[in-house]
Amino acid sequence: MPHLISFEGMDGCGKTTIIQMVREYFDAQGVKAKFGREPGGTAIGEALRAILLESEHKATARCELFCFEASRSEFVDKVVVPALESDEHFIADRLYDSTRAYQIGGRLNGDPRMREFVNLANAVAMNGISPTRTFFLDISVATSRKRTGHKIADNFEKERDDFFERVRQEYLLIAREEPNRFIVINGEQSPEEVLEDVLSHLRPLLGIK
Ligand code: TYD
Repeated sequence: MPHLISFEGMDGCGKTTIIQMVREYFDAQGVKAKFGREPGGTAIGEALRAILLESEHKATARCELFCFEASRSEFVDKVVVPALESDEHFIADRLYDSTRAYQIGGRLNGDPRMREFVNLANAVAMNGISPTRTFFLDISVATSRKRTGHKIADNFEKERDDFFERVRQEYLLIAREEPNRFIVINGEQSPEEVLEDVLSHLRPLLGIK
């Protein structure tokens, strides 16, 4: 059975590096999988990504929320579901947990009414599918700053430390709510150690010796 697996974490947590290492590992093992990122992955998704991350126009919190859900709906229908239907695993660089962490935790400060709405909007965007496992590469806000400090900040990376502390706390809340799916990995370790932790969960799940 093909699996949908997602990676989550704050900016600078090492997702991109680890996903690349997983890709190389899968290639070496002959595991068939497709890879994609959110926001993006489709023409409309990439356009929304540019608006949300790079443009000088700052979206309101609700506009931002709908754009992420719009991008997600496209991504799920046009990219993720076709891959799973062709019997390939799918590795997603971010999915709906990012919306909970960044929009609900970071932007809306855990507003309970919006939390309920976002959970519903996420479910609509996911159209009935959900990841079997999500790997949350957990780092401190200080580490995130240290690792992203040298690059040009996108619209999120310009946020203050208290925003990112709320993002992290929302991720940790998801981990408490869904411990079987949402796996916390210590992202402060070396890439090799992080990869090994991730593979220790993936090998049995995907039947890799
Ligand atoms: P990206 O450059 O992909 O960051 P990273 O390489 O760290 O994943 O930028 C994605 C940004 O968009 C990131 O700061 C988190 C944010 N985001 C949200 O706020 N909500 C969402 O639903 C998603 C998917 C991303």
